[in-house]
Amino acid sequence: MFMTEEGFKVTPWEVKGRIDYDKLIKQFGIEPLNNKILTRLKKHTKDLHYLIRRNIIFAHRDLDWLLNEYEKRNKFYLYTGRGPSGHTHLGHLIPWMFTKWLQDKFDVKLLFQITDDEKFMFKEKLSLEDAKKFSYENILDVIAVGFDPKKTKIFLDTEYSKTLYPQAIRVAKHITFSTTKAVFGFSNESNIGQIFFTSVQAVPAFLESVFQGRNVPCLIPLGVDQDPHFRVARDVLPKLGYYKPAIIHSKLMPGLTGNGKMSASDPNSTIFTTDSPEVIERKIKNAFTGQQATIELQKKLGGNPDICSVCQYYKFFFEQDDKKLEGIFEGERSGKLLAGEHKEDLAERAIKFFEEHQKKREKAKDQIEKFMLRD
Ligand code: TYM
Repeated sequence: MFMTEEGFKVTPWEVKGRIDYDKLIKQFGIEPLNNKILTRLKKHTKDLHYLIRRNIIFAHRDLDWLLNEYEKRNKFYLYTGRGPSGHTHLGHLIPWMFTKWLQDKFDVKLLFQITDDEKFMFKEKLSLEDAKKFSYENILDVIAVGFDPKKTKIFLDTEYSKTLYPQAIRVAKHITFSTTKAVFGFSNESNIGQIFFTSVQAVPAFLESVFQGRNVPCLIPLGVDQDPHFRVARDVLPKLGYYKPAIIHSKLMPGLTGNGKMSASDPNSTIFTTDSPEVIERKIKNAFTGQQATIELQKKLGGNPDICSVCQYYKFFFEQDDKKLEGIFEGERSGKLLAGEHKEDLAERAIKFFEEHQKKREKAKDQIEKFMLRD
């Protein structure tokens, strides 16, 4: 998983290069979402989310099992999370919007973990105080996505430790240093908090079973970079008497600068939920389009929507109508649509979306305690 001979790298802490998802499916040992499983899912959801239709939500582990249980009236709960290293960006909203869709369709509970401990231990310059500050900033975005307050519980690892710690050490006892080295690439120089951390992220995958005193199935929607944690957890949980969690994976939204995944450490590669209209406009104007060097050449030869970050922004987020998206892609391929018009339209949509989102974020400030799980 760390090898770069394939030209890309995906770990929970580092994503590099242009990801080949077919190869990643094999490396990670995950299942593509095929027609059979999607037909089964659609029986319950009636329609399929645009992220599924576009193969952005693209893979799973044990979704068949989860649906078997659901059909036997053994209802599941959802679990997902955020590592608060900074403000929320557009990419983070992808698995959260999809999680909300699942919550609405199946009418199920959601546990949302904020790993302030993780980010403190992995980011050399991040203080624990700042990790906590960003946790509460990020929680505003989670609430703004629209989760049901009666069915959604959010917690910070450092604040919910009385409940989490005894469960985390039960997991940790079954994980060796050599496993974490093989799965995550740790070395003798890694700090010991990092080596322990995967046991903390495993806990919410069975916490509802602890609460209810019986086994409750769990479904984890996530960006595929987080899968390795649950590969480890899925080996350990049966040893503690719990179900393995099912997982549904999202591809990673590429950055605006055309260098692989959007990343908080390259602020121009993404839009943060707190960005002003001016900043959004500037970032989109400077985005990589992959169009030909001159307008004449572009009109003659056309461009490639698969590498154009503006086209990808429409695909992942800003054009949810499939026919209209095809029109945009065709415009790019045929050379009819030029980068300038494209970017202007995208910037307008993005500014509108974030203005709305920021209003919801403001309203969320009074709702935090309704969502928090405290011990
Ligand atoms: P974090 O904060 O790195 O990311 C939060 C969620 O967003 C996904 N993600 C993306 N999805 C699409 N496109 C992108 N460009 C993109 N960038 C990030 C991540 O995969 C993740 O699902 N340790 C975790 C927090 C966590 C968690 C969990 C995540 C705790 N428990 C359970 C998923 C499921 C973290 O640092 O995520």
